Amino acid sequence: MKAQLENIYNSAVSDIEKAQSINDIEEIKLKYLSRKGEFNSIKKGLKDLSDEEKRTIGAYANQITQELEELLKGKHDLFYKKELNEKLQNDRIDITLSGKFTPLGKVHPLTQTTNEIITIFQNLGFSVADPELSPEVETEYYNFDMLNVPKDHPARDVQDTFYANNAKNVVLRSQTSGAQIHIMETQNPPIKIIAPGRVYRNENINARKNNFFHQIEGLYVDKNITFGDLKGVLNEFIRQYFGASRPTRFRSSFFPFTEPSAEVDVQCIMCQGKGCRTCSGTGWLEVLGCGMVDVNVLKGVGIDPDVYSGFAFGMGVERLAMLKYAIDDIRLFFNNDKRFLEQF
Ligand code: DAH
Repeated sequence: MKAQLENIYNSAVSDIEKAQSINDIEEIKLKYLSRKGEFNSIKKGLKDLSDEEKRTIGAYANQITQELEELLKGKHDLFYKKELNEKLQNDRIDITLSGKFTPLGKVHPLTQTTNEIITIFQNLGFSVADPELSPEVETEYYNFDMLNVPKDHPARDVQDTFYANNAKNVVLRSQTSGAQIHIMETQNPPIKIIAPGRVYRNENINARKNNFFHQIEGLYVDKNITFGDLKGVLNEFIRQYFGASRPTRFRSSFFPFTEPSAEVDVQCIMCQGKGCRTCSGTGWLEVLGCGMVDVNVLKGVGIDPDVYSGFAFGMGVERLAMLKYAIDDIRLFFNNDKRFLEQF
């Protein structure tokens, strides 16, 4: 029996020497050392031997089993290292390559400007109108009639305003001022509110004009509101938006829904007031329209002009952004050129 064990041991050792891989080692383990392997079948015969033989042969069997296990483990570790090294070599990563980069999106400059303006007015006590009170699709009633715009006013002309083909009197709003009417119809004074949104005009597109743009409408109606309040609020807005050093001026003007009306100019950012192409040589750039809410408008929405007064204003977001950042073409906001957008 000892000779049998020796034979198996020798053939196992020669198998181990010939082994080429971890796989070979696993197979040798199975062939010799597993429960159904060759050693076990011999060891089963031990029970028929004398006690003395059981001890010596048993001890011998254990000894060579242990030796084989050690040999196998040695080889296994060797192949493991070799295979690992090969794998590391083949899968080597080039840490000098630039990584995969997912660019982060950004808030559009017009949205940034809108948010900035909203924040300034919120700090002055204005709230932001519910979008339902400031719809982009309007009727002539809200866009013109209730704002005291005469029936023959040129702004109503199809050349200026987009009319729906199939619905009478339905327009894409040409100004956010219609929001004033919706707000005053649903709220009682005191009203202190702004309404940002998109407006549409049937313009020939060029560097200064687009057929849609954005406005922010403001309205403050309460007892004893004066033109002084209007100047105070708008001067503070301009001071915060442009910085304290930028001179401004109020110039008298006309809008059908305010009386008196004014336009606010800031000193031209391009020429610092000397006069250039951007400001048509005047040294000033118009930034917004404003005025005291016309008595007819208040009456129209059922607010008593003998008790209440108010002021309103409307400003163009594109224009304010262009003036602040010295942008000379309004189309840059809309053609999604990343070289432009990435600068904000
Ligand atoms: N809606 C005017 C426009 O689009 C701007 C404006 C002027 C709004 C005077 C006002 C205002 O609220 O009081 O040109």
